Amino acid sequence: MSEEKKYKRTLVTSALPYANGPVHIGHLAGVYVPADIYVRYLRLKGEDVLFIGGSDEHGVPVTIRARKEGITVQDVVDRYHYLIKDSFEKFGISFDIYSRTTSDTHHKFASDFFRKLYDDGKFIEQVSEQFYDEETKEFLTDRNIRGECPRCHSLGAYGDQCEKCGATLSPDELINPYNAVNGNPLVKKETKHWYLPLDQHEEWLRKWILEDHEEWRPNVYGQCKSWLDGGLKPRAVTRDLDWGIPVPVEGAEGKVLYVWFDAPIGYISNTKELCDAHPELGSWEKWWQDNDTRMIHFIGKDNIVFHCIVFPAMLKAHGDYILPDNVPSNEFLNLEGDKISTSRNWAIWLNEYLVDFPGKQDVLRYVLTANAPETKDNDFTWKDFQARNNNELVAIFGNFINRAIVLTHKYFGGKLPKRGQLQDIDNAAINEFAEVKKQVESYLDVFRFRDAQKEAMNLARIGNKYLADTEPWKVAKTDIDRVATILNISLQIAANLAIAFEPFLPFSAAKLRSMLNMCDVKWEVLGSIDILEEGHEIKPAELLFEKIEDAVIDGQLNRLAEIKKANEEAKKAEEEANWKPEEVGAPVDFETFEKLDIRCGKILDCQKVPKADKLLQFKIDDGMGGRTIVSGIAAYYKPEDLIGMEVCFIANFPPRKLKGVESQGMILSAVDKDGKLVVISPSKDVAPGSKVG
Ligand code: 2FM
Ligand code: ZN
Repeated sequence: MSEEKKYKRTLVTSALPYANGPVHIGHLAGVYVPADIYVRYLRLKGEDVLFIGGSDEHGVPVTIRARKEGITVQDVVDRYHYLIKDSFEKFGISFDIYSRTTSDTHHKFASDFFRKLYDDGKFIEQVSEQFYDEETKEFLTDRNIRGECPRCHSLGAYGDQCEKCGATLSPDELINPYNAVNGNPLVKKETKHWYLPLDQHEEWLRKWILEDHEEWRPNVYGQCKSWLDGGLKPRAVTRDLDWGIPVPVEGAEGKVLYVWFDAPIGYISNTKELCDAHPELGSWEKWWQDNDTRMIHFIGKDNIVFHCIVFPAMLKAHGDYILPDNVPSNEFLNLEGDKISTSRNWAIWLNEYLVDFPGKQDVLRYVLTANAPETKDNDFTWKDFQARNNNELVAIFGNFINRAIVLTHKYFGGKLPKRGQLQDIDNAAINEFAEVKKQVESYLDVFRFRDAQKEAMNLARIGNKYLADTEPWKVAKTDIDRVATILNISLQIAANLAIAFEPFLPFSAAKLRSMLNMCDVKWEVLGSIDILEEGHEIKPAELLFEKIEDAVIDGQLNRLAEIKKANEEAKKAEEEANWKPEEVGAPVDFETFEKLDIRCGKILDCQKVPKADKLLQFKIDDGMGGRTIVSGIAAYYKPEDLIGMEVCFIANFPPRKLKGVESQGMILSAVDKDGKLVVISPSKDVAPGSKVG
């Protein structure tokens, strides 16, 4: 595609991450490193390219975090926008702009975009019944509605998904839905929204994707095909929410643009912000509305439908815009065999990595690309990270560079020696790396970053083997002219590495360029043995990569083990909270029943368990000196209402820790008709410790 050069410029966008938490290795591997490699490659080739990024600051997740932490939504997005921006900068993600969807430019732009579609009659209006909290007077978004899962019957499933059994749900399917924030029951109320009639776009989308873009990655093409084959339906582009861009239509007070409507428009408004500040880049319209622009969206697999179907339909409905040329989307990266999860803290956060591994951004970039989840989900393990660093970056790349530079200083005072008569072994090495440019390009042009990096690394392998085979340190005793030839070729290979690795490992490539004293680097000279001139002076060798010791890796593995343990405890607590009797239990013999030591007791004290929404902690007078029991009934009682109450509890459960508190038994509850738990109490006063049976 690039060789045909049908386009004049390339606009690269990368998904705008939600500003509701820090970014982790999954983000980097899935979207930002591949996008950055691609952009750096195009720049090195001298192409006209813009790389657009920014934070996605609207939507429900930021509002949930703000409520949880008791701070404003603006505080949340400010905190994470700057943290994310900083992490990206430190990892060398070379955006031309990294802005945010709360900017004035974006608000105005997205609002105008909606208004144009509205004025042109591109939306349909529909009134529907949505869940409403009469006390707080608000309509609830899917994520803010919880209830019993219709499939696995766990309590606390979300309006869009049950996290227990993984079922995709709609709020209507939940049994006894309630407001996730305050537990209030919900009613249905009518509300009006604007919908993008995707069904009307189906025909051209079908042709555009399935016929004109067969070259898209199979995962992207396949997902689009299955959406199209399933039939597209109108999609609401507005929401009842108080955080977002107000719907610019009279009578739409209290409604905002759906986050997935405004976020991709962020790519355009951020381009506008950049071009307004840098007139030399040309107008933003040139980048978005000229057929000579080629647009590439880098995204994660959960974003495919929005970038391949919804956003193109928005652009087409508007009428002035070009459509993406390709949408390279990766699969997911797992961590040590488990799905990365923000809520379970199962991730390697970039801001923490930067503290734990200062100056080693390239190592992570290298490992993530070597293991990129391009065609299937992949796994990041710390052992693999260590092995790739020690056995590849240090032992092959670093070792070769170090030997070539140190020997040049030793025998030729740091000046590039003259290349003499070439021998077969020299020609073999030269011929091998002459192909590197073509090979790396052939992969980069089709977004196969993993293979491209492997090819680039091959150059270091060639260099290392060349030095090992020619042994200049031995030849130096007898034939210094021969050493000159060997080191000339070795340093040319080193210069090639400095160019080939600029897209992949920008910090190490810059360090290498500095050691080799190279100023101007151009992709086009890749593969040449004449990059450095005879007599060119190089600087002393510095370590490019350093070994990572076992203790460092063990430290990381221990941290993950602790997180896993905490998650298991939390899961037990969740199970406790979700405990619910079966309608009809399995038959049980008297002996088994007798084993249960059920007793009465009096609640002396009751408090919420910190950082556990569902748990209450009880001090019980059990007639035996007292005990602590933790129970998952916080959603149904205020702690102060339970103090003094008589309850029944199982006294001979083995103690177990729930959120750090040891629970010595289980309080018995019944489930009422609304699915709420009701504590069971003896009908008359009985002495604490009395047996039930
Ligand atoms: O999945 C996400 O993190 C979304 N915030 C991506 C948005 S991409 C684009 F539309 F801005
Ligand atoms: Zn379920």
